[in-house]
Amino acid sequence: MTERPRARPVSRRGLLTGGALAAGGALAGTAAVTAARSDTPAVRPVQALPAAQVGTAVEPFHGSRQAGVATEAQAHAAFVAFTLRPGTDRAALGRMLRLLSDDAARLTQGRPALADTEPELGLLPARLTVTFGLGPGCYRAAGLDDRRPASVADLPSFRIDRLQPRWSGGDLLLQICADDPLTVAHAQRVLVKDSRPFATVRWVQQGFRRAAGAEPGRTQRNLFGQLDGTANPKPGDPLDSAVWVPDGPDWLRDSSTLVLRRISMNLETWDLLGRTDRELAVGRRLDTGAPLTGTAEHDEPDFAALGPDGLTVIPDFSHLTRAHVTDDRLKILRRPYNYDGVPAADGTADSGLIFASYQADVARQFLPIQRRLAERDLLNEWTTPIGSAIFAIPPGCPEGGWIGQQLLG
Ligand code: HEM
Repeated sequence: MTERPRARPVSRRGLLTGGALAAGGALAGTAAVTAARSDTPAVRPVQALPAAQVGTAVEPFHGSRQAGVATEAQAHAAFVAFTLRPGTDRAALGRMLRLLSDDAARLTQGRPALADTEPELGLLPARLTVTFGLGPGCYRAAGLDDRRPASVADLPSFRIDRLQPRWSGGDLLLQICADDPLTVAHAQRVLVKDSRPFATVRWVQQGFRRAAGAEPGRTQRNLFGQLDGTANPKPGDPLDSAVWVPDGPDWLRDSSTLVLRRISMNLETWDLLGRTDRELAVGRRLDTGAPLTGTAEHDEPDFAALGPDGLTVIPDFSHLTRAHVTDDRLKILRRPYNYDGVPAADGTADSGLIFASYQADVARQFLPIQRRLAERDLLNEWTTPIGSAIFAIPPGCPEGGWIGQQLLG
């Protein structure tokens, strides 16, 4: 039997001084080193639920706010960004959004779209939501740049960024989510087809979470195995004041903004870390998601607690410490999806996170967090932003109305 290469243990101090990168670099290419195996805990069985009516479940389309933001995240998502064709002006944009809103209103309720060529595929909504986002180019094309929310502008570049045009920008976004991948594929097909006279597809990002009903009520896990979403603002007022614009003209009230970052996660070098070092990097335990100073997922982290070595128990440069926000109004709502593309010829994974963050104000909420993370965050050793886009999420619409009507109508 061939002996596996052994990973050099990455010490706590090594992590704190950036030694992890060196260790990762030195060992890169030694695929699937199993440093973490010896201390892997037994997996707790999750209680099985009675079969749910996944296919027929419906999310409302009409309302003052768009669905797909505060909606409990569905299992599958496609984020489709468009570039408007030259000549798609305010009137044409209105026609496009009216048409796409009609498609979305039908499909989300389990009714085929008008002239649906595969009407049978429109019958199982599986909690389908279609959320519309308007990029900076939309306001320019409509001649309404003075109505563009200040938040909806290109983000500054960060030193960690390795952005690729193929995953960045976009004049218009359709975020299509459902608990069934065939439902997502059909909705995507209908919406792309109907958008053709007005726009071309710029990029599509497909993502997934656990299957519907697999772990009801549990925080989702990302491909690093971490519970991801613990500190999200809770439903009710904390979430409302963080995510939705409370007042202003009717094209702003009940709107939000979406920052979408495609972040590649280097599973090959992450695999080289032992479990303890993985937990130090994020500041939380892998099994329970508890902060390193607590025992349960929702325990408050104690950033001042010191260990026997005199260092803070939660490292100062852990993702948790750097990202932490205490003021509810300054929190962001993270609704990320995992992606897992086709591996390279040598088997190297193409994995990561479609990081979707909703907030009322990008400059007040998202940017300070992203700046702190870009400056110093242990997770940066294993993660790289490769795509970035920003969209206004306009208010919802009543029955008979269409998304964008308050702005363009
Ligand atoms: C691949 C990239 C990323 C991974 C794997 C990741 C993972 C995690 C994990 C495991 C947690 C702890 C549990 C939780 O509260 O959800 C967390 C917390 C958090 N992350 Fe990330 N994250 C990533 C990128 C980002 C980015 C780009 C931002 C924002 C710019 C961000 C903002 C936050 C915030 C605000 C928290 C909650 C901190 C708190 O108040 O306790 N994360 N992340």
